[in-house]
Amino acid sequence: MQDRLATFPREPLATLPTPLEHLPRLSEVAGTELWAKRDDLTGLALGGNKVRKLEFLLGAAKAEGCDTVVTFGALQSNHARQTAAACARSGLHCELVLTRAVPRGGDGPGGTSYDHGGNVLLDHLFGATVTVVENHDDAMTAAIAAVRERVAARGGRARWVPPGGSDAVGTLGYVAAGLELAGQLRALPRDPVAVVVAVSTGGTLAGLLTGLRGGGSDVPVLGVDVYRPAERTGPAVSDLLDGVAELLGTARPAADEVHLDDRYLGPGYGIPTEGMQEALDLAARSEGLLLDPVYSGKAMAALLAWGRSGRFGDDGPVVFLHTGGAPGLFAYPDVVGPPT
Ligand SMILES: Cc1ncc(COP(=O)(O)O)c(C=O)c1O
Repeated sequence: MQDRLATFPREPLATLPTPLEHLPRLSEVAGTELWAKRDDLTGLALGGNKVRKLEFLLGAAKAEGCDTVVTFGALQSNHARQTAAACARSGLHCELVLTRAVPRGGDGPGGTSYDHGGNVLLDHLFGATVTVVENHDDAMTAAIAAVRERVAARGGRARWVPPGGSDAVGTLGYVAAGLELAGQLRALPRDPVAVVVAVSTGGTLAGLLTGLRGGGSDVPVLGVDVYRPAERTGPAVSDLLDGVAELLGTARPAADEVHLDDRYLGPGYGIPTEGMQEALDLAARSEGLLLDPVYSGKAMAALLAWGRSGRFGDDGPVVFLHTGGAPGLFAYPDVVGPPT
């Protein structure tokens, strides 16, 4: 699998391998031996999982002769921020179309910090052209038409990257991560009983599962839905597993290897939950570790609940794939800031 992966164009963006670290104090709280795969430390632009996907997405864009990358996300998208930085570093124009998909900002929770702080602030700093649209189809159609016109006006060529960087090419980044992690797991004193990861558009989970199996690890991967119900995530993950298997010319992991749990999503994407707030506090205070309110905080809330319920037993450690997202903290001052 490693050899096949090496045949795809790849833009070097991430600092790799990321460390696999023991979390002794959080292990006590979780009631299970806990390790973190630190993909929050991929390096570029405050790190995170998308840097890995962007190595392959921008590699493909350059190979196709594109001078622009267009992508999409919620207003506080980490993927958008990392795309903006990756484009800056690679000499590409970046067009971001960001949707007001989360009921925050304006006069609501988060206020101007949500509208202008966190990832949004960084998108602008990295020089991206940012279009913010309301959450309906007409607004999106108009924004896409305007992007097309801008690219055409300068005689450019764009690669259109889906939300989260989750197409088969982007998913290759997590195949590489899975191969990397499989090697690190072999060096642990005991075999892990599970890897836990936040799931939104699904490319991270699909790639990770493919790479772990390709690297000889059969550890179960437990996905925590943070974007939509599992019944909608499942088909998306399945399509990505098919797509990446086709690109690599390998067999895909079986459908029953995809574990998804949407009980920690709460009222919806980007909306805080008590479990997320507790996970953020515990990680920060016990390990000096920053989680984020939208993704890694909810995934850790699930892991803590499972650990406390005895789900993992004492058969081996649990690995938390830390996918990053800390810039989002600055868009949630009402959740993580000092009392007002
Ligand atoms: C911090 C963080 N964690 C997890 C994810 C989920 O990754 P995926 O969309 O590949 O499921 C994202 C993607 O948006 C993210 O920004």
